[in-house]
Amino acid sequence: MNAERIHRLYWHFQELPVSMRTLFTSALLVMGLGYLFALIYVLASHGGLDGRRGLSVEDIILTYGGSTEGTRLETALQGPMSTMLAKRDLGEMLQWIRAGASKADYETRIHAIIEQNCLTCHDGSNPHLSNLDGFENVMETVQADTGKDIYSLVRASHIHMFGITFIFFLLGFIFSHAYIRPLWFKNVVIVMPFHCIAADVASWYFIKLFAPFAWVTMIAGILMAMSFAIMWFSSMYQMWFYTVPEHVRNRARETDGDIS
Ligand code: HEC
Repeated sequence: MNAERIHRLYWHFQELPVSMRTLFTSALLVMGLGYLFALIYVLASHGGLDGRRGLSVEDIILTYGGSTEGTRLETALQGPMSTMLAKRDLGEMLQWIRAGASKADYETRIHAIIEQNCLTCHDGSNPHLSNLDGFENVMETVQADTGKDIYSLVRASHIHMFGITFIFFLLGFIFSHAYIRPLWFKNVVIVMPFHCIAADVASWYFIKLFAPFAWVTMIAGILMAMSFAIMWFSSMYQMWFYTVPEHVRNRARETDGDIS
């Protein structure tokens, strides 16, 4: 006889009415799909920024902290675009960028170089290439890349915190009906995502100060996904296929347990 006490308010999935189980199952199915789309979105929007496939810590640093390797124009001129203009013109453009990219110098020297060497492709007609027609457009490629600005971080922060709380409250509530031992493990799985989202959001800001905080973003994301997977699969499984342990099914309802 197992002497384990079960909290009087604890109900296993299979003790719940079928209507509640179908409600939980439907919610889980759509939430699972939502999580998949979220993963695809993160990979598509942040992955590969460092030139390699997949999501890496470098990608996270580039997204939130920006690049320390100068401006987009300079990077391009020293890389793939270096063959598009004469050495002398190239030197002149690099010098102009490093001297602060002033408008006066643009008008007297740089405008002509760009018009002659770049506008055949960068005239704005190709949406995938920077438009280099005119000083304002050129300046967009000369801004130092500082990653996401604070305004968009604040916006993303509140959306993430509300959204994730909502999702993991629902998921944790459903999962609380699963029978999981040891009990501390069940609680850790339920609580983990809330700590992860706090660490995740905080790390976006800290990356700007100290790039290795990108590891926090990465690890928080992985732990959150693990919690999601554990809660999702064990809930689905226990809802329909699991045999409830006898001592749970036969517990005396009136015992005042303190375990759930
Ligand atoms: C023959 C067409 C062509 C010409 C001419 C050309 N580019 Fe490009 N440029 C491209 C293509 C294609 C890419 C994107 C592919 C890559 O990065 O290799 C690109 C990428 C860039 C980028 C980085 C991505 C972006 O769009 O911001 C910059 C900056 C750039 N070019 C600047 C220049 C400058 C400055 C010149 C003139 C000196 C120039 N390009 C001339 C075709 C051209």
